[in-house]
Amino acid sequence: MGPVRFAPSILTADLARLGEAIREAEAAGVDWIHLDVMDGVFVPNLTFGPLLVEAVRRVTSLPLDVHLMIVKPERYLEDFAQAGADHITVHFEATYHPHRAVQKVKELGKKAGLAVNPGTPLEAFEPLLPDLDLALLMSVNPGFGGQRYLPTATERLRRLKAMRDRLNPACLIVVDGGINRDTVAEARRAGADVAVAGSALFNDKPVAENLKALRLALLG
Ligand code: DX5
Ligand code: ZN
Repeated sequence: MGPVRFAPSILTADLARLGEAIREAEAAGVDWIHLDVMDGVFVPNLTFGPLLVEAVRRVTSLPLDVHLMIVKPERYLEDFAQAGADHITVHFEATYHPHRAVQKVKELGKKAGLAVNPGTPLEAFEPLLPDLDLALLMSVNPGFGGQRYLPTATERLRRLKAMRDRLNPACLIVVDGGINRDTVAEARRAGADVAVAGSALFNDKPVAENLKALRLALLG
């Protein structure tokens, strides 16, 4: 099992000094920057849109991993692609046409992800898996940083991994929500290739120290 990739979510970073926080994360050795876009409809919270993605694009060369928690994401795919997103993940539950949305992301030349909520059967991934670059399994209900990892996510990761190995071994499994030093190893062993982490990486301690603690937890 190779090392897990880390994608810090800026949701819990100090947005007043976002550029600095991202540079700090990049210097600490994170792999991607995860951007949580929320519309107050699909999830009960509002964050930011393409304008902020564009601003982040200017301060880092790391892949920008954009997680769209918005209804009918197909309306904005071009905008996020133009803003500099490298990966665009749409929610299965947020569109009548997840297949069309994924195809559109690929036509735009970006890596395409599908995200699935904790209450959605895993079978939602199956028809799209051959076309996916990323399969994002929510391990909390989306909307807020700092929630507790749902224990049911572990068995779902195992099942998703088996499905991924069968249908598209190149697709990366991303786990998102409640990843910290107590849960990262369990999620990794169950099949996560990429760990999104918000509050465990962006908090009152330096990112490098937090990242080290997560990597250490993976060894245990
Ligand atoms: C939740 C978001 C996550 C979240 C992760 O809706 O998709 O990316 O910010 O934050 P933590 O790691 O604090 O659960
Ligand atoms: Zn996310």
